[in-house]
Parts: sequence; C-alpha cells; structure tokens
Amino acid sequence: MISTSFSALLAGLVTARYASATSVSDFVTQEQAIALQGVFNNIGANGSLAPGAASGLVIASPSTANPNYYYTWTRDSALTLRMLVDELIFGNSSVQSTIDDYVSAQALLQTVSNPSGSFLPSGLGLGEPKFNVNGTRFDGAWGRPQRDGPALRAIALIEYSNWLLAKGQKDKVSKTLWPIISNDISYVGQYWNSTGFDLWEEVSGSSFFTTQNHYKSLVVASQLAAKIGQNCTSCAEAANALCFLQTYWNGKYFTANINLNNNKQRSGIDANTMLGAISVFDVAASCTHPSLQPCHSRSLASFKVFVDAFRNATLYPINANIAASKGVALGRYPEDIYYNGNPWYLITQGAAEFLYDAVAQWKHQGSISVDSTSLAFFKDLYPSAKAGDKYTQSKTSHKKERSMSQVSARAASDTFQTVVTAATTYADSFVAVAQKYTPSNGSLSEQFHKVSGKPLSAYDLTWSFASFVTMARRRAGHYPAYSWANETVNVPAVCTASSTKGVYAAAGAGSGGCTSSVLFVVNATTYYGENIYLVGNTTDLGAWDLASAQPLSANNYTSTRPEWFVEVQMTGGEYVKYAYVREENCGQASIYETVNRTLHVPACDSSSASSTSAQLATNDKWTGSVGSSGSC
Ligand SMILES: *[C@@H]1O[C@H](CO)[C@@H](O)[C@H](O)[C@H]1NC(C)=O
Ligand SMILES: *[C@@H]1O[C@H](CO)[C@@H](O)[C@H](O)[C@H]1NC(C)=O
Ligand SMILES: *[C@@H]1O[C@H](CO)[C@@H](O)[C@H](O)[C@H]1NC(C)=O
Ligand SMILES: *[C@@H]1O[C@H](CO)[C@@H](O)[C@H](O)[C@H]1NC(C)=O
Ligand SMILES: *[C@@H]1O[C@H](CO)[C@@H](O)[C@H](O)[C@H]1NC(C)=O
Ligand SMILES: *[C@@H]1O[C@H](CO)[C@@H](O)[C@H](O)[C@H]1NC(C)=O
Ligand SMILES: *[C@@H]1O[C@H](CO)[C@@H](O)[C@H](O)[C@H]1NC(C)=O
Ligand SMILES: *[C@@H]1O[C@H](CO)[C@@H](O)[C@H](O)[C@H]1NC(C)=O
Ligand SMILES: *[C@@H]1O[C@H](CO)[C@@H](O)[C@H](O)[C@H]1NC(C)=O
Ligand SMILES: *[C@@H]1O[C@H](CO)[C@@H](O)[C@H](O)[C@H]1NC(C)=O
Ligand SMILES: *[C@@H]1O[C@H](CO)[C@@H](O)[C@H](O)[C@H]1NC(C)=O
Ligand SMILES: *[C@@H]1O[C@H](CO)[C@@H](O)[C@H](O)[C@H]1NC(C)=O
Repeated sequence: MISTSFSALLAGLVTARYASATSVSDFVTQEQAIALQGVFNNIGANGSLAPGAASGLVIASPSTANPNYYYTWTRDSALTLRMLVDELIFGNSSVQSTIDDYVSAQALLQTVSNPSGSFLPSGLGLGEPKFNVNGTRFDGAWGRPQRDGPALRAIALIEYSNWLLAKGQKDKVSKTLWPIISNDISYVGQYWNSTGFDLWEEVSGSSFFTTQNHYKSLVVASQLAAKIGQNCTSCAEAANALCFLQTYWNGKYFTANINLNNNKQRSGIDANTMLGAISVFDVAASCTHPSLQPCHSRSLASFKVFVDAFRNATLYPINANIAASKGVALGRYPEDIYYNGNPWYLITQGAAEFLYDAVAQWKHQGSISVDSTSLAFFKDLYPSAKAGDKYTQSKTSHKKERSMSQVSARAASDTFQTVVTAATTYADSFVAVAQKYTPSNGSLSEQFHKVSGKPLSAYDLTWSFASFVTMARRRAGHYPAYSWANETVNVPAVCTASSTKGVYAAAGAGSGGCTSSVLFVVNATTYYGENIYLVGNTTDLGAWDLASAQPLSANNYTSTRPEWFVEVQMTGGEYVKYAYVREENCGQASIYETVNRTLHVPACDSSSASSTSAQLATNDKWTGSVGSSGSC
C-alpha cells in the first residue's frame, strides 16, 4: 500500500510535470505519447472514449454536451489520419490496422445521402462536413457544404497509397484505395470553383485553406494515377486552382476568405492560412513554389501579421508582456466570438510546426532569401536583416578560408545559422506556451481561456492531439520523404473559372441513395430578428424536429418581395408533408403555419448529367398568424 506521504509526493510530481521547470524537450516527449494515445482513444470501434463509433470512424471529441462534438468530421478525421500515416511511414507498423479501418469506413461513408446531397449522380454528398459516429447522416442545421473534406481525405489516402506502393502493394492501391480517392478527386475537380463553408464552419465563400488543399490533392492524385496507370481527368483542374490560390494575396497577407456570400467582412487575418501551409508542406519544395509553402515569402509575411494580431493584450490578456520575438497564445482569428474568442492548442502548436517546417526547408536548400515581403518576419529573428539578403549554409570549413570572398561567405553562413537558431527558438517558444497551459495529465481541449489559461470547450479534442504529434515530429526533423512539389510549376497568366464533371462510383458495399434538389421559396413578411425555418415529415426536412429544420435565407428579401428561400437535397421521388415556422426573438415560442403542405419530389435520375441547380421550385405564401418583436 502506498503511504499517504508518498502518494502526496507522487501527486505533487504529477501536477508539476508540465511546470516551467520541465524543459520543452521533455514536455514534448511526454506529451507526444499521451497525444498519440489520445487519438487512439477517439477512434472506433475500440477507442476507449468512443463508444458507439463505427470501426475506423474518428470522433472529434468525447464531449457530448457544451459543446457536443460527438460526431465524425471529414476534415478532422483526414488530418488525424495523415498523422497516423506519418507514424506508419516513420516505422510504427501497428497503426496500419486502424488506417485500414478508416479506409473501409470512408468507402461506405462516401455513399451516405445527407443534407448536402447524395453521392449519385454528382457527388454532392461528399461535401457534407460531419456524420453521426455510427456512420449515419446528421440532419441538424450546419454550415454546409464544406469542400476541403474530400481533398484532405484524398491526400491522406494518397499518402498511404505511396507507402503501400513502396512496399510493392500496387494491387491494394489500385483496387481498394484508388476508387475512394477517385471519387474525392472528382468532387474537387468539379467544385473547387464553387463557394462553401470554411474550416471554421462559419463563413460561406472561398477559403484559402480549402483552395490550397484542393491544389495539393489534384497534384498528388495525378502523380499517383501516373504510377498505377489510372486516368485522372479531374486532375487537370490543378492549374486553375493554383491560379485562383494566388488571388487570396492582398498585398500584405493572404486573406482567409474571399467571394463571401453575405457574411460580414473580417480582416481576413486567420490561422486558416498558416494551417494551409502546414498541410501542403514538402521539405524539398522551393520557397518560391506557387503551392505557397511555409518558407514562401508571402506565407512568412502572413504568419507575422497573424501572430502579431494576437500580441494585443486587450484582445488576449494572456499574452500581455510577451516580447515580440517570443511565441504567444494563438486563436483562430482576431474577430472570433465563439466561447468569446480564445487561444486554441492546435493553432498555438501549429505556429511551432509552421516554423519548424520553414527551418527544415531552409536547411534542405542550404539558404535563406529575404525580400521586402518577408523582411518584417525576418527582422524579428535577425534585426539587421535587409531585403535582398541571402544567407547561405556553410559548406567550407572555417580553417580552409583563403580569400576575402570565403570570409564574407562565412559571415553569410554564420547569419544562416543565426537565423535558423532564432527561428527554432521562436518555434520552441510557441510550444512553451502550449506547455504552460496543458494540464498535468496531458489532456488537450480545443481552447484555453484568454485570461485564465484554463482549458475550455471540447476536451480531448482529436485534432489538438494529432496536431501535437505532427508538431513533435517536425521538431525532431521527421517528415515524410515523399516529395510532391519539387518540380518547377508555372502559374497560368490568366485564371480561368472552370469545373470538370466528375465520375462517381461506390467504392464499398454502399450503393447510396439519389437526391433531387428542391428550391423552397416562401413570401413571408418578417420583423428584424425573426427567422423562417422549413420542417416536414421526412429526414431531409428534420422529421418535424425544429432542431433539424432547414433555415431559410433572407438574402433576396425586399419590402416589395419578402422572399425567404432554401435549396434542399431531397430523396428522389418521395412524397413529403411540410410547413414553414417562424422563429421569434426574445425567447418567444415559434409560430407554425396553419397548413401542412404536400410535395412530390422529382424522381432522381442517377445517370443524368450532373446538375447543381434545383429541379423544382415552390412558390409559397406564409399561411397563419404572424409574429411581433418582443421587448428584450
Ligand atoms: C505505435 O502505435 C501504437 C498503436 O497502434 C501505440 O500504442 C504505440 O505507442 C506506438 N508506438 C510509438 C513508438 O509511438
Ligand atoms: C477491435 O476489437 C476487435 C474485437 O476485439 C478486434 O477484432 C479488432 O482487431 C480491434 N481493432 C483494432 C483496430 O484494434
Ligand atoms: C445512429 O446514431 C444516430 C444518432 O445518435 C441515432 O439516431 C441512430 O438511431 C443510430 N442508427 C443506428 C442504425 O444505430
Ligand atoms: C472561380 O475562379 C475564378 C478564376 O480564378 C475566380 O475569379 C472566381 O472567384 C472563382 N470563384 C469561386 C467561387 O471559386
Ligand atoms: C484512360 O483513358 C483512355 C482514353 O480515354 C482509355 O483508353 C483508357 O482505357 C483509360 N484507362 C483507364 C485505366 O481507365
Ligand atoms: C486590440 O484588441 C481590441 C479588442 O479586440 C481592439 O478593440 C483593438 O482595436 C485592438 N488593437 C489593435 C492595435 O489592433
Ligand atoms: C485532465 O485534467 C483536466 C484538468 O485538470 C481535467 O479536467 C480532466 O478531467 C483530466 N482528465 C482525465 C482523463 O483525468
Ligand atoms: C521529386 O520527388 C520525387 C518523389 O520523391 C522524385 O521521384 C523526383 O525525382 C523528384 N524530382 C526532382 C526534380 O527532384
Ligand atoms: C436571389 O437573387 C439572386 C441575385 O439576384 C438570383 O440569382 C437568385 O436566383 C435569387 N434566388 C432566389 C431563390 O430567388
Ligand atoms: C410524409 O407525408 C406524405 C404526404 O402525406 C406521405 O405520403 C409520406 O409517406 C410521409 N412520409 C413519411 C416518412 O412519413
Ligand atoms: C402538421 O403535421 C404535424 C405532424 O403530423 C402535426 O403535428 C400538425 O398539427 C399538423 N399541422 C396542421 C396545421 O395540421
Ligand atoms: C410572392 O411575391 C411575389 C412578388 O410580390 C409575387 O410575384 C408572387 O406571386 C408571390 N407568391 C405568392 C405565392 O403569393
């Protein structure tokens, strides 16, 4: 039996584990193992914190309330799987069975009809952001579609395919992986030029992170297709996506979201662009490669603008009195109001990963170039930096110097080392911030409070854990050897709006339903603050549950035409009963129409050419009593 004094001592040790006395290196070693285990706890069917999750499905967090993240998101899952594929590549063969479970699960999930649409005929359902943990559709209102998911999943599966190919398993790649990848790449080729919701699920428009991953997915898919003798017609959209990607630059930084659909304009300063650079990282890529690598001047400039926005102690009191050369706690974007806006672990860790990536690229190339765009970034690391400077890694040993040019080359190489060391120290200082606010048991929530530093929002967030592991790997100088952006690529001189119709075929046992699009339009005069919902007797209309009702848009509302509308993907051929509902302000009860309407959804023709426009539109007029603004 453990004596009281000994267990108290042990408790003291456990609490002190991550105190500042622990070195960053020791912290990283300990937390990396906890984080990897944390990820496994959140994957079905055997994850200890993922009861009910189907085999191979990754839950976002075990948290089922405040907030409820007990769902599987395509984006979070794919980023997590990329980490696991990395672990496989680095030699941990025991993760492979989990990766294979994910592969099987995704083949099925691709075909599940959902509120974004069906799999057939035109792949719309692939844009659905999240599903129930048992793999069934999620019908609640959500920011959809999200078009980064298929690209990220394709990248994860392609990275795995490359590992399999190196092991001589071409058959498995061609027969099992490629059919899934091909569907996702079809989606990217078809919809890269359509708006959707960003990775934070808030802004509808075009998102830098999404476009950058679209580009990468199309390139790596075409490389894989070439290796296994498959066609990738959609992959030809890569040049157009690449061209579009450049247009997010506003002269100072990459604007996170453009082409906004009625969203309030923000500064566009957002972790989005930093996370995008990490996602496309290729150690062997040149810093001028238009895929916009971490070491690209514009990525570095965006990084500095982003980090500096959070040095504001009014915005984030937690960052008061931290020197400009030191890491700070980072949130999603300065205007964030979710949970009042707080730092996130995955973003603070992501900043470290971004810097480790850039350092790895400079070392790989043996040089660092400073230009007027990146100058402000470099001045934080090396105050005497000037635009036009080039620092070269030492090749000659100091003793062999003979000429003045060799002496000046040494000065430049010393500077190379100085900048590399400063950038690495800077990266470590972001890890130290994460360390300071990581509880002693190593659990990583989504956020930590901007004043107290206490963990906040969903606990044991899978993405927080996965991002810790990838950061730890980059810190140790581990990155997958496969290079995808090492060739010279030219950006087209003129950007082209385009789309390649995809080819979709079930890769697994699922057959998928088939949906038809219906545009519900209703004239309903409303007061400011009142909203209209659509609810009905079928799953696609929320099965009379207001929590799953379809929210209508007032984008086209005028005083002469009080129009509310929503386009809904509905099961082809079904009969539905539906009604509109007014959602009142000030906590007043919702008001239902006094009629139940009926509709026959057009049959779905899965062989038809894809169409994203509605096959049927209603012309309804609100029937029933109206609401009045409450006093609150
Ligand atoms: C390898 O993966 C397994 C899970 O399959 C995990 O338990 C183990 O800790 C990992 N090993 C290392 C060295 O990361
Ligand atoms: C999960 O558990 C089942 C039953 O114990 C086992 O057959 C399966 O291999 C396990 N899967 C993983 C990924 O460990
Ligand atoms: C799947 O999960 C959802 C949400 O928890 C639940 O409503 C549904 O009944 C489940 N379906 C099956 C087949 O287990
Ligand atoms: C489509 O591509 C064109 C050309 O790059 C671009 O101007 C336009 O903003 C893009 N629209 C969307 C929604 O991606
Ligand atoms: C690729 O496309 C060509 C030309 O359309 C066709 O002949 C060939 O069969 C296709 N290959 C595969 C593997 O689909
Ligand atoms: C700092 O943050 C506060 C609170 O968000 C904001 O009002 C202020 O404009 C910011 N200051 C600067 C210099 O950005
Ligand atoms: C880990 O520590 C946090 C903060 O003290 C606590 O809220 C959480 O319950 C702990 N988790 C476990 C699994 O003990
Ligand atoms: C780029 O990387 C690939 C894969 O690692 C390799 O096969 C190819 O030779 C490289 N090309 C160049 C120009 O380095
Ligand atoms: C809304 O207005 C836009 C722009 O005028 C138009 O293209 C669109 O068809 C309208 N939508 C509906 C449902 O009326
Ligand atoms: C919904 O209502 C329609 C019209 O009354 C009916 O034909 C249909 O069977 C109902 N569907 C469900 C799922 O109850
Ligand atoms: C519409 O149908 C729902 C569900 O059956 C029912 O609760 C409601 O009373 C009906 N409304 C009217 C106006 O008949
Ligand atoms: C809705 O309003 C428009 C514009 O006033 C009108 O043309 C249309 O007929 C109305 N629809 C119904 C069903 O009343």
